[in-house]
Amino acid sequence: MKTDQDSRAQQVHIETFGCQMNQYDSELVRSLLKARGFTLTEDKEQADVILMNTCAIREHAHNRVYGHLAELKAIKRQRNLVVGVLGCMAQNLKTELIETEPIVDILVGPDSYRRLPDLISKALESQGQDNTQPGIAVDLSEYETYGDIMPERAEGVNAWIAVMRGCDNFCTFCVVPYTRGRERSRDPEGILHEAKLLLQQGYKQITLLGQNVNSYRFDDWDFARLITAVGDLAGIERVRFTSPHPKDFPPTLLDAVASHPKVCKHIHLPLQCGNDRILKLMNRTYSVKEYLALVDAIRQRRADIALTTDLICGFCTETEEEFLDTYRTVQDVGYHSAFVFKYSERKHTIAARKHPDNVPERVKADRVTRLVDLQKSISLQKNRELVGSTLPVLVEGDARKSSMQWMGRTDSTLTVVWEKRASPTRPGDLIPVHITRVSATTLFGEETTPR
Ligand code: 5AD
Ligand code: SF4
Repeated sequence: MKTDQDSRAQQVHIETFGCQMNQYDSELVRSLLKARGFTLTEDKEQADVILMNTCAIREHAHNRVYGHLAELKAIKRQRNLVVGVLGCMAQNLKTELIETEPIVDILVGPDSYRRLPDLISKALESQGQDNTQPGIAVDLSEYETYGDIMPERAEGVNAWIAVMRGCDNFCTFCVVPYTRGRERSRDPEGILHEAKLLLQQGYKQITLLGQNVNSYRFDDWDFARLITAVGDLAGIERVRFTSPHPKDFPPTLLDAVASHPKVCKHIHLPLQCGNDRILKLMNRTYSVKEYLALVDAIRQRRADIALTTDLICGFCTETEEEFLDTYRTVQDVGYHSAFVFKYSERKHTIAARKHPDNVPERVKADRVTRLVDLQKSISLQKNRELVGSTLPVLVEGDARKSSMQWMGRTDSTLTVVWEKRASPTRPGDLIPVHITRVSATTLFGEETTPR
């Protein structure tokens, strides 16, 4: 049997699927494990423990995890390995996952990460013994915000801070209220303290995360006050946030975006669909008219605020005419970019229980293609208008395709790529870049002033 001391030297590898909140949760998990003496490794081959931090939002995310589990099954046949499934899929499927995937030793939901180190130690100790029971921690909490834990972040320019967890909106298609539980906000003092430390460590941009940041409340703090306070911190270049809900977008938050020099001029405003009957079925609690009035109010306050969105195609009973309403709304708004998804029925959701998932897969796929094509043409047209202008760009690092080029982002979150040259430019610098040509997804340019 392994001793506790042995298990402290064990190497843990974490793979992360899904959204920014999940990336952040993996950073929390890293911190919790390091504090208990585990070593983290990037190298799967060396790992004694492999954890998958999973996403349950769509079928595709599920399938990717099942694919990885099949891979781990093969490794586990050859050597000792503890396999853990964390996050939303663990929470949503619970013991069903253990029953269908007997190689899973540990199952931990998003509110139970504090129990993970003990469960790993136990699993390592009982390796090779007969009849060992998997370690399961899937209780949801009304209070857990992990506010006292400083996440173990990767180096970079941007740091995420989750300011709230959970969601109470119960959009009928969405599994998040079931996997991440009730809404709760983190103490602003802790958030500001953490943000100050991050800026001292050299991070330049902070992104505040929450499933619906409009619901952030702590004593007399709301989200607008919080983001303003973060933007006021010494040394910060930019503060971003995601996501607000269109049903209750606060005017004070619009003021903060429009007027605070450090708050990025970008609002991600998930529309989901542009037809009132479907919006009602989705329980989004706004009409298309109300959504468009909000877009107008944003643009009247400041025309250069970039809008992006999420769209779902082929939700239960959606007709071609109703889809065309979404198409036309996307044309009307003119988003900078959009994430377009095929509706994917999720276990436990209201839609799964009450509404038929009756739009054929090929119809869903065709609607996605049409919306993606439309959005591409809108993005290209908007980007073309930027050719010839000079924009402030926060340098993030090497471009994906070439280390001879830099990649950075504009205030409105557009990706910019340009040739490196003999200048002292470094990641984290905010520099002017002259835009020379564009595609639908990227601006290309050159550094203007030798510095
Ligand atoms: N099917 C398809 N897309 C979904 N989303 C959430 N749940 C589903 C689902 N069941 C999308 C929404 C949300 C984004 C994060 O994921 O557009 O805004
Ligand atoms: Fe899901 Fe709706 Fe909550 Fe967003 S607001 S996490 S879509 S339930």
